Amino acid sequence: MKILGIETSCDETAAAVVEDGLKILSNEIASQVEIHARYGGIVPEVASRQHTLSIVPIIQSAMSKAGVGWQDLDAIAVTNGPGLAGSLLTGVNTAKAISLAWNLPLIGINHLEGHIYANWLTDNKPEFPLVCLTVSGGHSDLVLMKGHGDYTLLGRTRDDAAGEAFDKAARLLELGYPGGPVIEKAAASGKATIPLPKSWIKGTNDFSFSGIKTALRRLVEEGGIINKADAAASFQSAVVEVLVGKAISVAQEYDACQILLAGGVAANKHLRQKLVNDSPLPVFIPPMILCTDNAAMIAACGYYRFQAGKTSDLSLDVIPDLKLA
Ligand code: KG4
Ligand code: ZN
Repeated sequence: MKILGIETSCDETAAAVVEDGLKILSNEIASQVEIHARYGGIVPEVASRQHTLSIVPIIQSAMSKAGVGWQDLDAIAVTNGPGLAGSLLTGVNTAKAISLAWNLPLIGINHLEGHIYANWLTDNKPEFPLVCLTVSGGHSDLVLMKGHGDYTLLGRTRDDAAGEAFDKAARLLELGYPGGPVIEKAAASGKATIPLPKSWIKGTNDFSFSGIKTALRRLVEEGGIINKADAAASFQSAVVEVLVGKAISVAQEYDACQILLAGGVAANKHLRQKLVNDSPLPVFIPPMILCTDNAAMIAACGYYRFQAGKTSDLSLDVIPDLKLA
């Protein structure tokens, strides 16, 4: 079964063809990073306009790289939330048009569920029950999964998401955009010597990253940052310690068989290594390219939803604040 995945929730226009929820036949991504870098962050209106320019060429490219025609497809999976309304609309309306023209089943996908399913694009499948830590630009969620499509939210951020914290820290340290990769790069030549607050918020599985951001801002304002690499390393280490510590304790509390990592921040090497090193449970982490936004994960998720008979119709709409659980 071949599914065309389409992803336009934020600033990446992506299309992919995935066979049987596993084999990536193509995975095309048109990034807008350079355009938004000029503004130091994503400008929603600019993102929407760019999606409308890129969507048709990126789908054509995904189809031709996969070596398939419309008649070879079995379904279309598209992200319909959460994300930027204008950006989501481009993907959803394009998917609806293809679905109508070629009489193909349409499957609306939650972007966060897509991130989680990047972990199924491997021969070695995760087993239930599991705990997934999804860390992206908009979310930091700890989710218990007892089966396909069965989610219980165990913890979430109370303020900034982990990726958002990386982005804001990079801006404070004037390291550039997007924040995650530039902090990681700077941290590689620094030492985590600056004490920054780690927000454990005892008695809850929730996260909070606004305190560490404020502490960093104060240090910058008071001239307390002598070495930006040390500041980046200290910030990265403090955020990762809390993410890893909470993911492991929650997984143990809920008797999970394994821990999954997902979302753009899962591309962070320090986070990947620390989770693998510290976890007493097996850990699943997608390859780097499947951590940040892509459409292969949307097609993979679409496969499992299709198997469960969960398709959408042409009334499918965008839901910018779509919840997973
Ligand atoms: O999942 P994603 O590509 O888009 C959203 O769904 O939000 O995640 C983007 C976020 C950004 O905040 C970016 O700074 C962060 O992921 N990120 C990283 C790294 N690569 C991307 N954070 C830390 N280290 C990285 N290497
Ligand atoms: Zn994402």
